Amino acid sequence: MFFFVFLPQLMLKFGNITLHDEPVLLAPMEDITDASFRHMCKMFGADMMFTEFISSDGLIHNGRKSLQKLYIDNNERPIGIQIYGHLIEPMLASVKIVEKANPDVIDLNFGCPVKKIAARGAGSGMMMNPELMEEMTRRIVQSTKLPVTAKTRLGYDEENKNVLEIALRLQDVGIKALTIHGRTRSQMYKGKANWDLIRAVKEHPDMEIPVIGNGDIRSGEMARDYIDTYKVDGIMIGRGSIGRPWIFKEIKHFLDTGTPLPPPTVADRVDIAKTHFTLSLEHKELPRGIFEMRKHFSLYFKGIPNFKPLRMKLVTSTDPREIYHLLETIKDTYGDFQPENPYAYDK
Ligand SMILES: Cc1cc2nc3c(=O)[nH]c(=O)nc-3n(C[C@H](O)[C@H](O)[C@H](O)COP(=O)(O)O)c2cc1C
Repeated sequence: MFFFVFLPQLMLKFGNITLHDEPVLLAPMEDITDASFRHMCKMFGADMMFTEFISSDGLIHNGRKSLQKLYIDNNERPIGIQIYGHLIEPMLASVKIVEKANPDVIDLNFGCPVKKIAARGAGSGMMMNPELMEEMTRRIVQSTKLPVTAKTRLGYDEENKNVLEIALRLQDVGIKALTIHGRTRSQMYKGKANWDLIRAVKEHPDMEIPVIGNGDIRSGEMARDYIDTYKVDGIMIGRGSIGRPWIFKEIKHFLDTGTPLPPPTVADRVDIAKTHFTLSLEHKELPRGIFEMRKHFSLYFKGIPNFKPLRMKLVTSTDPREIYHLLETIKDTYGDFQPENPYAYDK
């Protein structure tokens, strides 16, 4: 006799978004997470993605770059469009513009550490003004039917780590999920992310919305350890995905099986880089479609011995045909070689 046991599939739900249990999200990254890169991350299983941050001023003044960043494709769903600004009215006006692009979520950037943004009081500058942050978020939540989420840091600096206060305030005014990058504004991207405070927010008895942890995750092993240790509802990957969009597949495989996947060969990497390059050319005009691939190319082929001459050609060429040809040369020369994951995880 057979017994069928139906195990309920665990899911993470917020707003009208349903994600797999232990979801792995792609972080918003200016000049990185454009449509072509997001396509690659989706191919490798990213559960949810965000656009690069978009300036509310840029949107309301029809800035070309800001409007271009609104482009999203249906196969990217669920996707959030991230906006930032320090004034309520322009943020409300930009929400109306963002709604027309039909994202699944509007994400508010309360974490950008860049001086000219934070000093004006936007991005992580908002962390110094929790009242304004709360009021802005409340008005935005009231103004739209879309779920609103936010991404922030531990605080402005070592003396002002107010993320718990911020999390509770933002939850009270209706955000549906919160991502926390485990650094302060003054740390920028330096040092090791501190996830203890992320855990403290997650475990606070009044905290009900999902908390996504972010900062430094570079491998499946690390993802498993951080999810288990810090009890977050999901993790978000930023720099670990640049030049390695397959990290989503690696992490999900490790989370499911507890074993690592072998790293992709150079031949695999060439195929991935070619698809990415073709998409970049489709989405961006020449020469931008080429220029914007250069940082990715360098990282796709990191760890290959004696690669410098080919890399130099790859990142200086302005001719798409020559670039495709160089990629084939890389495949012919190094095909089966498997560069290791450069980020060894020492607990
Ligand atoms: C090049 C770059 C651009 C970034 N742009 C944004 C952005 O537009 N919006 C945002 O919320 N965070 C941005 N971040 C921060 C990342 O989303 C993430 O919080 C940070 O890199 C830490 O995660 P990681 O260690 O996985 O990279 C950016 C980070 C980098 C490296």
